[in-house]
Amino acid sequence: MFSFANLSIPVIQAPMAGGITTPALVSGVSNAGGLGSFGFAYSPPNVIHHDLRSAQALTRGPINANFFIFQNVLMPDLKTIKIAIEPLHELAPDIDFSIPAPPFFPDLETQLEPVWQLRPAVLTFHFGIPPDWVMQRARALSIAIGITATCIEEALRIEQAGANFIVAQGIEAGGHRGTFEVESPDDRLSTFDLLHQLVKRCTIPAVAAGGIMDGRDIRKALDLGASAVQMGTAFLCCPESGASCEYKTLLLAKNPRPSIFTKGFSGRLARGIENAFTRHMDCKSTLPFPIQNTLTGQLRQAAARSHNAEHQSLWAGSAFYKARTFKVGELMKALQIELES
Ligand SMILES: Cc1cc2nc3c(=O)[nH]c(=O)nc-3n(C[C@H](O)[C@H](O)[C@H](O)COP(=O)(O)O)c2cc1C
Repeated sequence: MFSFANLSIPVIQAPMAGGITTPALVSGVSNAGGLGSFGFAYSPPNVIHHDLRSAQALTRGPINANFFIFQNVLMPDLKTIKIAIEPLHELAPDIDFSIPAPPFFPDLETQLEPVWQLRPAVLTFHFGIPPDWVMQRARALSIAIGITATCIEEALRIEQAGANFIVAQGIEAGGHRGTFEVESPDDRLSTFDLLHQLVKRCTIPAVAAGGIMDGRDIRKALDLGASAVQMGTAFLCCPESGASCEYKTLLLAKNPRPSIFTKGFSGRLARGIENAFTRHMDCKSTLPFPIQNTLTGQLRQAAARSHNAEHQSLWAGSAFYKARTFKVGELMKALQIELES
């Protein structure tokens, strides 16, 4: 069974859905003594199977497969759809934006089939607790389960559900904020404030996520009682990451833009680098997650094809200006040296 004590460096490379977590990145982290993670939230089973198999062929280290817990959404009415499409049309008049037919998100049961078959060491979830049958099946197969919490109430529910560890996601974190309910009140706790509360109140291991970029940050998290850290943004500029060149360029810019929260891309709050899209969508109505995500898909894909960073989602944590361009193995070595010094 997976144990943090068996990692030679207490680093989880964060799952990052959307093609960033390649088998080379994930296996590179695991081979260096950390835990490499795949972001499989939107992936079909054949891709999940392929990526897990490819990474397993490259490493004997532990691998994490990560999924979203999607909540049921109803088809919005025509007026709401029209209001949501209007600002997108202003940005891209040539695209014929249309709402997909339900189901609006992948079926978790089908997505998990390759997981049960290939048995990565760890399974993590974002946006909520998986159904009980998933927890039981994972336990029966000795797969450890971790779930994101953004507040103490969510952490206590995760512990109660029988998870093996909690990922404490602070407000500094890049990507989607993992709150269980989209509209619930949010105290926007910093990573270290949340971690502090969590280690006092929970008995299962806590993993600190958000704004952790170097060995000094890792040391601080461990001193506060974390069993490990989960770092996303720090890995984006590795050559093994699937982030686009223009995304990497903005992460490394000498005069960095701010990182901000937007609902514009997906319908849920997520932190990324400000661009023309996020400015245009500020205060605009969006459709519920993940319908908005599918709606903006064509625009984001067109932007990726034309290398236009202004219409891509550039998820990044608040400390992205500290990102480094090392190869994944070198980054892991640097983190270890910084942590030990
Ligand atoms: C590009 C990107 C994509 C992300 N996608 C996911 C995801 O698919 N699943 C998930 O649990 N977390 C995801 N996250 C959030 C990370 O798990 C983690 O909370 C975050 O990266 C920590 O903050 P940092 O980026 O400052 O290191 C993503 C983060 C980034 C930067």
